[in-house]
Amino acid sequence: MTTKKTVTPAGTPNIPVRRMDFEFDDAIPLYWFDNNPLLTMLLTGLSCTFPEGERMFMRAVRHYQDRITDPDLQKEVRAFIGQEAHHGKEHEAFNNLMARKGLPIEQITTFVKKAIAKEESVFSKERMLAKTCALEHFTAMFAETVLEHPEFLDAIDERLRPLWLWHAVEESEHKAVAFDVYQQQVGSYWTRTSEMALTTVLFSFFTGFHTVQLLHHQGELGNWRAVATGLGKLAGPKGFFRGMLPRYLAYYRPDFHPNQSDSRALREKGLRLLKDYLGDKMPLAA
Ligand SMILES: [Fe+2]
Ligand SMILES: [Fe+2]
Repeated sequence: MTTKKTVTPAGTPNIPVRRMDFEFDDAIPLYWFDNNPLLTMLLTGLSCTFPEGERMFMRAVRHYQDRITDPDLQKEVRAFIGQEAHHGKEHEAFNNLMARKGLPIEQITTFVKKAIAKEESVFSKERMLAKTCALEHFTAMFAETVLEHPEFLDAIDERLRPLWLWHAVEESEHKAVAFDVYQQQVGSYWTRTSEMALTTVLFSFFTGFHTVQLLHHQGELGNWRAVATGLGKLAGPKGFFRGMLPRYLAYYRPDFHPNQSDSRALREKGLRLLKDYLGDKMPLAA
């Protein structure tokens, strides 16, 4: 076990908790992401995993909360839990919108809840925290790609852009919290990296599975034009995943720390854009 906190100056000194209260208009089109079924169902499937997934992160970190002696990290853990709780609440509101449009959201959220309960009954607390760190690395990579290339947001219906941008900024803000708890309280390189390998397989499989499930429900699986266009925007030369492999692989370095990639300027840029989106509805950070 290591007791040294490996935080770098690139962290967020006071992680704020912003209380959003999004109301999603039923007039938002079904295919709200670039009018593309694949892109829309991919993000909708991911959103179905967020509320219960984020509650799992909160439980994994909370298990170690009383053992943390560093007051700064204690404060960060409280903010992490606050941010994730609000993400879950707002994604539930979004999921309800998609359910009102007739999508089988409850079927997916029920499955996710059972799958997480099974994992928690089988895996140790150490491994569940390592899983949280692995998934937080994925969310930080995706979030910071959105912040680096906010043009991806332009293809999203403007009423939904604040949800995804707000979540991206906060995932970047708290990207090191679960990791610092893990390094202080567990510290095993093997558990951290083996869990990342396992999580990569499961996360990729189930994200693809839920996307296919939703596309199938909509009768869009055979819509090759939409699938090809969507895949191009994800994996093409200028696609979302460009340049992500080295960032992913960095996690396997023994000296890896999330704040080695300094994203303070990106977060500031993201917050300015969020303010542009929300105007006087921009919440005060607590
Ligand atoms: Fe989150
Ligand atoms: Fe997170």
